[in-house]
Amino acid sequence: MDAPEPGVGLAVRLPIETERLVLRAHRMDDLDDLTAFHGDPEVVRYVPWPVRDRAATAETLQVKLTQTELVAHGQWLVLAVELRSTGTVIGEVLLKWASDRQGEVGFAFGRDHRGQGYAAEAATAMLRLGFDDLGFHRITAVCIEENAASARLLARLGMRQEARLVDNVFFKGAWATQLVFAMLEGEWRSRADG
Ligand SMILES: CC(C)(COP(=O)(O)OP(=O)(O)OC[C@H]1O[C@@H](n2cnc3c(N)ncnc32)[C@H](O)[C@@H]1OP(=O)(O)O)[C@@H](O)C(=O)NCCC(=O)NCCS
Repeated sequence: MDAPEPGVGLAVRLPIETERLVLRAHRMDDLDDLTAFHGDPEVVRYVPWPVRDRAATAETLQVKLTQTELVAHGQWLVLAVELRSTGTVIGEVLLKWASDRQGEVGFAFGRDHRGQGYAAEAATAMLRLGFDDLGFHRITAVCIEENAASARLLARLGMRQEARLVDNVFFKGAWATQLVFAMLEGEWRSRADG
């Protein structure tokens, strides 16, 4: 795929509904739910943001309000993950249009909503969006080695660990080793068929 023409992007249709979740554009009234997990040191330990108070969360929410489309390489689509049963925003999922037909996924969920398969359900929906709707050939994910929950989730999604990059990033005050995971469109299809 050639570089996109200016102003012409990928067709991202929102919201995306799954069995228990709605993945949708953020809204300003998500601020309370977002502050609850953006302000939790344990949630942000392995993600590249600091602990955020309400004001800092509001500032980043302003940016998230605009991250609803993929019109240029390098852009991130950032979606709120709403629990259908309560309407609460329990996390966020991200999909980057990295280059050509390549993407990258990311996710963060509040502590109260872990261990129930919500992250896997939301991340699977992002892989489906990338491979089935946007025509991506390859989707990657990167996590800090100590982030065992994230590495477990990526493996559970069917992503292959391709690399272990020793002390590859200076992260929150120390050198950190990163794990790189990837999935190809053929792997996605055979998984979906299986
Ligand atoms: C990474 C992260 C999203 C993983 O969350 P998670 O709760 O472990 O993942 P899921 O929601 O898919 O839940 C899976 C767990 O629920 C269990 N589970 C319970 N009910 C389930 C169900 N109905 N369906 C699927 N899994 C279920 C699974 O067995 C699994 O447990 P295990 O990890 O002990 O094996 C979460 O730890 C997080 O947000 N961390 C902070 C932010 C972060 O580090 N992001 C990643 C940066 S690379």
